[in-house]
Amino acid sequence: MAKAAPGYDSIGSALVRTGKKEWINAGDGNQFLVLRISKETGAWSALVKAPAGQVNAPHTHIGPADFYVLSGGFDYRGGSARAGDWVYEAAGTVHEATTHPMDTVYLANVYGPVAFHDGKGGFAGILDWRAVQAMVDKAKQKKKVAAPVTAAKGGKKKAA
Ligand SMILES: [Fe+2]
Repeated sequence: MAKAAPGYDSIGSALVRTGKKEWINAGDGNQFLVLRISKETGAWSALVKAPAGQVNAPHTHIGPADFYVLSGGFDYRGGSARAGDWVYEAAGTVHEATTHPMDTVYLANVYGPVAFHDGKGGFAGILDWRAVQAMVDKAKQKKKVAAPVTAAKGGKKKAA
């Protein structure tokens, strides 16, 4: 990490080299490359990769969110967003399912929880900063468990 210039207080500012970060499974078919999580405001930013055919369940945006489509696209209540399009969803926006007719990558800036509908007028689950942080922590833990280095015979180190 570069040394901060004198008088520069980053207060959480970031420069993220996305090519050096790992994609993690969100558990619903999407992959996330998490850029930032704010425990203070609950906002989080991530690149999201959705494979062709991915369907995101109906949900309500408790806080606002915006999305910039980098490649591919998705179809949702507001229309068909394609590469180069920017989507804003106001706090309180209620969504039917979002479908991805092609492999898609988009930047998601989410400023509050996303509540997934249970089909009975309630919510089945909440995607908030804690859930995204848990996803990141789980991926880190999995990486640690998957790649323990043990000493093999002859003194050479070998991945288990
Ligand atoms: Fe949405």
